[in-house]
Amino acid sequence: MVKPKVYVTRQLFPEAMEILEHHADVEVFEGVDNSIPRALLLSKVRDVDGLLPLLTDKIDTEVMDAGRELKVISNYAVGYNNIDLEAATERGIYVTNTPGILTDTTADCAFALLMAVARRIPEADHHIRAKRWIHAWGPKMFIGSDVHGKTLGILGLGRIGSAIAKRARGFDMRLVYNDVRRREDLERELGVMYKSRDQVLREADYVSLHVPLTPETHHMIGAKELAMMKENAFLINTSRGSVVDEEDLYEALRDGVIAGAGLDVFEEEPLSHDSPLLGLDNVVLTPHIASGSIETRTRMALTAASNLVSVLQGREPLNLVNPGVRKVRPLRT
Ligand code: DGY
Repeated sequence: MVKPKVYVTRQLFPEAMEILEHHADVEVFEGVDNSIPRALLLSKVRDVDGLLPLLTDKIDTEVMDAGRELKVISNYAVGYNNIDLEAATERGIYVTNTPGILTDTTADCAFALLMAVARRIPEADHHIRAKRWIHAWGPKMFIGSDVHGKTLGILGLGRIGSAIAKRARGFDMRLVYNDVRRREDLERELGVMYKSRDQVLREADYVSLHVPLTPETHHMIGAKELAMMKENAFLINTSRGSVVDEEDLYEALRDGVIAGAGLDVFEEEPLSHDSPLLGLDNVVLTPHIASGSIETRTRMALTAASNLVSVLQGREPLNLVNPGVRKVRPLRT
């Protein structure tokens, strides 16, 4: 029997490649750290049945029209703002993602950023490495802000938002949240209080963002929202860069409108080497690594591979994000 063809835009973990190779003829972009060039993606997608892209690959109508045989796009990410979902549905292409798996790892990283910026850990580390630690101890040396006992504001109480709430409880933090949907079950379970978005911004000492990037959340945090925050508050973003107006954030950090930020995601990735954020001490920057543990990235790869194979075998995938596609192109089973 002829195997279906699959294209993968970056070498994945061997366990996941084995699954794919068992069921399909697989070709992989050989880049190590770089994204596949657009022209190559457009040519490689031409005769494949399945595509397994990264969140950095823009999968729009041009790609889908080039890939006339495409039946499934299995994103190696929980977020799928890189894929034109409506276009995929219209064309009968199943789109899947990797939810659940990276929840705790991402929440760990969000909390690590919060701690790092609050307690100025990277600044202090650089100080020693730069051989500037001259006086043994000082009452004001790298003093930061307490985390325990403070108020954490969570915008988006989904899986990752709930997971950071659990971590914050261990630090005796007061928890407030806003979400498009009020979650009374989680309010009871996690001890979080529902507030309007503006109230969360006004009350929180730390605001952590956990919303997907949609037209509604694009630049959800700009100058107006930053001005609502306390002067000694911090913003943590591990969701998507464009949820925040980065220029407004830079100005707020520079002018002391808020105390600091921990950022794993940016409007443009990689962050430009000319970004003014690089010149600020009150921001901790990481290059979109929140889900980056070996365990989680391996499980994400296994899930993405299984989702892709399921569709190619005519089975419902575990993590379908465009259920409307079932009507356009029902699966065999
Ligand atoms: C995702 O899966 O959407 C994350 O941003 C990857 O870390």
